[in-house]
Order: sequence, then C-alpha cells, then structure tokens
Amino acid sequence: MASKDAFRTRRTFAIISHPDAGKTTLTERLLAAAGAIQSAGQVRGKAGTRSTRSDWMEMEQQRGISIASSVMTFDYQGLTFNLLDTPGHSDFSEDTYRVLTAVDAAIMVIDAAKGIESQTLKLFEVCRLRDIPIITFINKIDREGQEPLALFDEIADKLALDLTPALWPIGQGVDYRGYLDLVEKRMVGPTGTPGVEWEEIEELIDHDELMADPVFVNALETLDLARSALPEFDLETFQSGHLTPVLFGSALKGFGVAELLRALGEWAPEPRPQPAEPKPISPDEKKVTGFVFKVQANMDANHRDRIAFVRLSSGTFTRGMKLRNVRSGKDLAISNPMFFFGNNRELAEEAVAGDIVGIPNHGTLSVGDTLTEGAALKVTGIPNFAPEIIRRVRLSEAIKAKQLAKALSDLAEEGVAQVFRRMIGADYLVGVVGPLQLEVLGARVEKEYNVPIGFESVGLEVARWIESDDEAELKRFITAQKANMAEDRDGAPVYMAQNAWWAQRAQQDFPKVRFLTTKERA
Ligand code: G4P
Repeated sequence: MASKDAFRTRRTFAIISHPDAGKTTLTERLLAAAGAIQSAGQVRGKAGTRSTRSDWMEMEQQRGISIASSVMTFDYQGLTFNLLDTPGHSDFSEDTYRVLTAVDAAIMVIDAAKGIESQTLKLFEVCRLRDIPIITFINKIDREGQEPLALFDEIADKLALDLTPALWPIGQGVDYRGYLDLVEKRMVGPTGTPGVEWEEIEELIDHDELMADPVFVNALETLDLARSALPEFDLETFQSGHLTPVLFGSALKGFGVAELLRALGEWAPEPRPQPAEPKPISPDEKKVTGFVFKVQANMDANHRDRIAFVRLSSGTFTRGMKLRNVRSGKDLAISNPMFFFGNNRELAEEAVAGDIVGIPNHGTLSVGDTLTEGAALKVTGIPNFAPEIIRRVRLSEAIKAKQLAKALSDLAEEGVAQVFRRMIGADYLVGVVGPLQLEVLGARVEKEYNVPIGFESVGLEVARWIESDDEAELKRFITAQKANMAEDRDGAPVYMAQNAWWAQRAQQDFPKVRFLTTKERA
C-alpha cells in the first residue's frame, strides 16, 4: 500500500502551446531525457492536430491523436510525472480547458520567432484562472528568432505576467554558442559540453576568451539588462502562478531539455487542493476523491470502449474499490482501472492524488463527475463554454430519431459537442467552438450509430445560459423569448440570439437576468 505521503512525489502537468511551436517534439525529448522512451521519435501519432480536416479525419479513424494524447507517466529522480496532453487544434479548446483543470503546473512552449500566438494566449488565460504555475520554454533557438529581450517584453506585455530568466541563450541560429544556466551557475556549450562555472555572474567578464566573442558579450549585456529589470526567482511566487521562470532552448536539438525537466522536478508543486463544494479537497485527506476531466470513446478500435479519465484528488485508490458518482448517486465497483502510457495501458492496482486513472464504462461517467467514497462533495471549476457555432441537426431518416437521441447524448457526455433542445418544437441544436468539431460529430454519429445527419443554420449565433435571483423575472424573460430559448442537457435554460446586438439588447431589457458564457454541470 502506498505511504500516506506518496502523492507528494507526483508532478502532474500539461504542455500548452500554439500548434507547431514544438509541443510534440518537446514531449518526446522530455520522455527521452527521463529515460521513459529509448529515443525521441516514439511518441508520434499526432500529426493531424495541426493540419487540415482530411488529415484529422484520417487520424481520427486510426484513433491516432486521441490515443497518443491521453497521459504519459514517467519516473525520474524519485518523482512520478504525469504529463497530460492537450489537443493542439483550436477547435478542441474546450477539451483542452478541461484537461487543464486536472494539472498542477504547465509548461508554456513559445516559438522564438513567433512569440505569443493566439492559442498560447487562450490557454494561458485558462491557467491564470486557476493560478496554475507556468514554466516558459522558448523553443527553436537553433534558428533565428526574436531577440530575448524583445520576447521578454512581449510575454510580460501580452500576458501581464512577471518573468525571470533561468536559462539564457548565447546567440541564436547560426550564432548559437550554448547557454547560461542561471540556476546551476554554469555555462553550457553548443553541443552540451559543460563550460565555465561562476559564483557571481559578473565574474564572467574576467574571461578574456569569452569576452573576445561579440555574441557572448551581447548575451551577457542583454542578460544584465533583463536581470536588472526583472524579479529574482521565488518559489512561492512561482507556485502561486504569478511568476514564470523562462528557459531558452531547442526541443529538436535537445538544448535546455534536461534543465526543463530539472525545473519541473524541483519547482512544480505536488498535487494542490482541488476546488470543490462545500470545501476544497486536500490531497492528504484519507478518503478517495477524484473527478472526470475527459471521456474518450473508441480508444481501442476493436472494442467499442469508452474511457473516463479521472484525476485523483485525495486518498489511495486501489483496484476493485467502490466509488460513488455524486451526480447520479450510483456506486460503481471499479474493477478495471487503467494507467495509460500513450498507446499502452495496464491495470492500475493503486493510485494516489495527482495520478490519472482511466475507467472503462458505458455511459455512467461523464465529464465533470465527482467520484467519492460516499461523501457528498462536488468538484468545481470544470465549465462548459458558450458555443460559438449553433446548428440544427437534420435527420434524414425520421425513423432513427431514437438512435439520434442516444448518439447526441453519448457524444455530449464525451464533450464532443454540446446538445440543446429548443423549448418550442423540440429540435436538437448542437453547439461547438469550432467547425471541425461539427465534422467530427457528424462523422461519428453516422459511423458509430448508423444515423446519417446534416447540420443547418438556424440564424442563431450567440448562446448564453441565463439565471436570476428573481425567479419571476427569469420566467418573464423565458416567456418573452420563448422562440429563442433552449435547454441544455441538464435542463438549464439557454437563451440564443441572432447576433451580439440582439443579445445585448436582451440584457438591457432584462437587467436582473444574468447572461453567462460558462456554466458548471449541475
Ligand atoms: P506541435 O506539436 O507544437 O504542433 O509541434 P511539433 O513538435 O510537431 O513541431 C512543429 C515543427 O517544428 C516540426 O517541424 C518540428 O520538427 C519543428 N521543431 C520543433 N522544435 C524545434 C526546434 O527546437 N528547432 C527547430 N528548428 N524546429 C523545431 P515540421 O517540419 O513541421 O515537422 P517534421 O516533419 O519535422 O515533423
């Protein structure tokens, strides 16, 4: 049986980045550096995340990305790291948001030439909501990129985040000469060979040979500027999400990757308390609790299986244990819990807070569910987001209405799309964040449930959950807007408007009604 402190060795994290910044390459490098895989190049199977629809569909058929994209667990220097992959494509950001609810730290990968990109910004905002500590890795310094100081300015500006340098590059691209490791106080040469060490960095100006190189002098000067303007590293500030240490490196060449692993091991926090009601769950509580942050169907093409990924928040889970799904009130005997490593799975005999366990099920578990040993707790902070695209589902074979209902309900639970029913007419509406999600939904309903469907526009562009402290006012709003009202799968009222102008007008007309862009599951 794991010791009661075993969870303290867990480091559960994700890598956030804009597509193409180098997340996959870095994942491979980290696993290789930790000795978890033999060589970089073994984690592939993602590809489609960044490219076109046809690629994605093909990958989806091969169950490629989703599989490789679940969890990678590896041990390194007495710690157990759980790396949760986040889908790269912006269409799947909702899924990504949920994955981030299950981590205690994140690595933010930035392309040195491109700086902060749209998806980085979005993901960062989610991390900020939860004060997730972030280590920044500025990638691709083996190529020409922006000046380090310019990148620092940009990050500080766009993210309103304090930074502090941990690895500083000496030149970039063809001028790359290695880096200064400000934590270990040593220089590392371009091929990874150890160089000069120091007590105080100012000592470096006494090295005539180094100072004869303008690239080195420039690196030292810019570093000096950076350090004089920026705070020093402070563990507490980092762990509370307010300061990011920055490492420059190259995932492709392996520069700075060992140091990144070191930073993660030394600085990233052990499992943090889980926001929940009536009170947060502390990881050292004896009783097992956990929550479903992701549901994945068809991980194994031969079995139509459905895996709920559960992040444990407290206690020591053992195989065969009975846990209660607080939402449904039902107890489940968990006889086949699994650990994943990319494509591979094994039975999970025991797991502690911070660990991710996959639980096969046939629809009993859905995203946002809390599991406990009977306690009436509810994990909070796993929202649904207001969809940006709303479509009516067109059923070509009316006789299949029942299968359609089942398909939409299953896939909504998996988080593929949100499903709404109109209050008048009871049509199904689906809401998604990106068009690719619709493609996937359509393809899966047809393939897995044998129900051909189409989607058509109904002239609605905005969806908002509505609530009010004044019940009568809420009723009045619903009556007045009946034609634009729908219910989500929990029965919560959703107002849909033709466009932002109408939505705003409704808000002005009904000041006592709140219009929400996110909603937690009931
Ligand atoms: P992603 O998962 O974030 O989408 O990025 P991925 O690792 O797939 O990397 C995107 C592209 O950037 C790849 O090139 C990869 O080789 C390259 N790359 C990643 N890290 C570095 C780095 O440190 N330096 C340089 N120069 N390139 C890097 P590609 O040509 O698009 O794909 P591939 O054919 O090489 O796989």
